[in-house]
Amino acid sequence: MATNRGGTSRWADAEEDAAHEARLKQQKEEKKRQKAEKARRLEEERKAAELARQQQQAQAEAEEGNDDDRPNKRRRVTPEGGESAADGLAERQLLKLRSGGWRPCRPVGDYEKLNDIEEGTYGFVSRAREAGSGRIVALKKLKLDHADRNGFPVTALREIKVLRNCDHRNVVELLEIVSDQACKPPTVYLVLEFLEHDLRGILEDMTDAFLPSEVKQLMLQLTSGVSYLHENYILHRDLKTSNLLLSNKGQLKIADFGMARYVGDPSPKLTSLVVTLWYRAPELLLGAKEYGSAIDMWSVGCIFAEILDRTAIFKGKNEVDQISKVLEGVGLPTDDSWPAFRRLPNAAALKLPRRTGPAEDRIRPRFPDLTGAGCALLRDLLSLNPDSRPSAREALAHPYFAEKPRPKAEGLFPTFPSKANQEKRPRREEPNAPVRGEAVGFGEGDFAGLIPAGTYYTMNPTIQVGEAL
Ligand SMILES: Nc1ncnc2c1ncn2[C@@H]1O[C@H](COP(=O)(O)OP(=O)(O)O)[C@@H](O)[C@H]1O
Ligand SMILES: [Mg+2]
Repeated sequence: MATNRGGTSRWADAEEDAAHEARLKQQKEEKKRQKAEKARRLEEERKAAELARQQQQAQAEAEEGNDDDRPNKRRRVTPEGGESAADGLAERQLLKLRSGGWRPCRPVGDYEKLNDIEEGTYGFVSRAREAGSGRIVALKKLKLDHADRNGFPVTALREIKVLRNCDHRNVVELLEIVSDQACKPPTVYLVLEFLEHDLRGILEDMTDAFLPSEVKQLMLQLTSGVSYLHENYILHRDLKTSNLLLSNKGQLKIADFGMARYVGDPSPKLTSLVVTLWYRAPELLLGAKEYGSAIDMWSVGCIFAEILDRTAIFKGKNEVDQISKVLEGVGLPTDDSWPAFRRLPNAAALKLPRRTGPAEDRIRPRFPDLTGAGCALLRDLLSLNPDSRPSAREALAHPYFAEKPRPKAEGLFPTFPSKANQEKRPRREEPNAPVRGEAVGFGEGDFAGLIPAGTYYTMNPTIQVGEAL
């Protein structure tokens, strides 16, 4: 309806019309005001998110870019590991469990310890029964000797922070956190759902290898769990068979989130001292500080090979030996296959032959019983160049999972005698997960006498970075 400048209608012949018109105008103005208010709020939120991102980046650089773990002035004093204060904007409910709301930790006395399972790198794990419900759980006692300056271990905070947000059938469930207040400082325990086995133990003990349909089911569950983590911006950073739990019902769950962390896009600077040596991606071995989910996919490739072979594929004694074994196993990088390789901090220390012959397939001869599609997936996962590795989601769509044999139904999986139900597991042949501050340099001293003469990649301190292969 047209209006004149005074706001009353030229056509209004009754007071109601004028009042109606005024109401419409008021509503219109109110809508305009709300719109402006919404735009202002969105802009404010955008600025806060940007600030949070910047602070997180700065914090991660201060915390993680510092491999010698020297105290840093910018280091925050709240017990939050590699995360920044700004994280709080998005994740202020730290330690709030899925059941909802804050509440004091229950005492560990609510659980009756049944037997020890294993002493890992960061904690002791035992089987226990909840007194009230009779439910069997795993209690992971957190060791305090890797505590940060505030007395609480960073690894534990990471594990709690990540696990409390996870909800996926292939990720172990954190049920609650309990404490023993009688200890000084109080001991903290993670209460986890209990699974009878870990995959490493099963692979060590089984007399016959898994059937192809069983391998596929295990890989399907592992890749689904990893896909869930990556889609939720979580890097696990310590995937290996002893951190994969298997129930007697054939269900696989990813566990041990002590090295895990959230990463944004773009990824902040991170420490390269992650992932147990045998499962560590080549870019990490070569000192990359910027890396992403592809490091977990390398570990997935190593696990695939280990499930097939029942023994780890690359068992290096140290970083140099590890990269040697990897290159022996999958071939050498070229400027075509991995253009960024030469720019990595430790790449200059490797002497590679100037000319390499045509790339030879080293996977197929090593895994003769694996189908062509299976070999192709394994080869892709074990690509030296992280950009050539499939994401977990891409791996799930790989023809290997679609071709016959179909993955064996979980319920039809064989059962194995559970050691976790009985006595403590013996320590296994496996390098421990890295501990912050224990960076082993990839320096010249490490190489002396370690690489047999006659192999391609002896140390050559004079090699020119960027020199053609
Ligand atoms: N929820 C669980 N159920 C059964 N066993 C478990 C559970 N969590 C861990 N374990 C066993 O304890 C071992 C060490 O646990 P983990 O979480 O990997 O600790 P660490 O950080 O010390 O390596 C695992 O390798 C596995 O054998
Ligand atoms: Mg572990």
